[in-house]
Amino acid sequence: MEQRRKLITMDEFTIQETRQFPQATGELSGLLRDIGLACKMINKQVRKAGLVDILGKHGATNVQGEEQMKLDVYANETLISVLKNSTDCAGIASEENDDHVCYSDTYSLNSKYVVLFDPLDGSSNIDVNASIGTIFAIYRRVSEIGQPVTREDFLQPGNRLMAAGYVIFGSSTMMVYATRLSVNGFTLEPSIGEFCLSHPNIKCPEKGKIYSINQGNSSKYDDGLRAYLNYCMEINKEEGRPYSHRYIGSMVADMHRTLIKGGIFMYPADTSSPNGKLRLQYECNPMAFLMEAAGGKSSYGGGNILDIVPTELHQRTPIFIGSKNMVNKALEFMNEDAMVGK
Ligand code: AHG
Ligand code: MN
Ligand code: MN
Repeated sequence: MEQRRKLITMDEFTIQETRQFPQATGELSGLLRDIGLACKMINKQVRKAGLVDILGKHGATNVQGEEQMKLDVYANETLISVLKNSTDCAGIASEENDDHVCYSDTYSLNSKYVVLFDPLDGSSNIDVNASIGTIFAIYRRVSEIGQPVTREDFLQPGNRLMAAGYVIFGSSTMMVYATRLSVNGFTLEPSIGEFCLSHPNIKCPEKGKIYSINQGNSSKYDDGLRAYLNYCMEINKEEGRPYSHRYIGSMVADMHRTLIKGGIFMYPADTSSPNGKLRLQYECNPMAFLMEAAGGKSSYGGGNILDIVPTELHQRTPIFIGSKNMVNKALEFMNEDAMVGK
């Protein structure tokens, strides 16, 4: 008879993992559980999309002038209210809100963590039933505990992250998160409503064969990047064939594949978007932190994403992220020799 594997829930796992830090208070585990709870609520709506009136446009635009979908709004409100009720979160910043939100009840004021999130990533894919996700980043606040959070709490560089990750609403629903110790993936077991450890100690393969970019924008890229894309399309000496191109247009989905199978994901600057499209604090920092913890690499083209000191809540950055060999090669083409091998 097939031996059944013992299920380890995300809760059990995080409690065991944080016990390795003698000063740990369990607050980080509590916060991860609350983010997981909000994402289970979002998952419930995502799985009903098409049956209930949740598909399509909400009719408003967000702070960045982008059209909001109904699920964007639902996911945002769910995360904000679950984290407000959490005893471990002092405040949040969201891609969908103009400014950060401060939680002012006593528990929240006395919490040491803040959370930044992209509540629903890949909005344009909702209506066509392709994978979408939620991305989150957890920092220890720099403002005084007991006082309301301040803007500075949300403008910390990625190298100060305590934990970061994403939930992917794909063929199954998975939560993948990183601490400095490791990256682990948990698949939602729908019958018990728990995320269970399914992908322990994830490592991004050092060598990849897949490149991921919106190649339709090539005419707006600079020469170095265009030369790298040509290199990807040529017959590769090692492989005896060109690299494969895969691009879903949901960062979470493209990054999940890159993490598991190896490869490179790029959202570069171009002539119409000098800083690229993706947002530093809600998308690039959490993914860069996770990729580094998994042994991969990320760059904005001139250095490590995680070293950028944010000056604005909604700032954008170009990103090149994934397997070390592919990121280094891309940087080589983009004349960033000094960074290669780091
Ligand atoms: P969001 O839905 O949170 O606004 O993010 C969409 C992002 C990201 O998920 C994806 O990688 C990128 O937009 C795709 O952009 P293009 O359509 O310009 O390639
Ligand atoms: Mn996004
Ligand atoms: Mn979004």
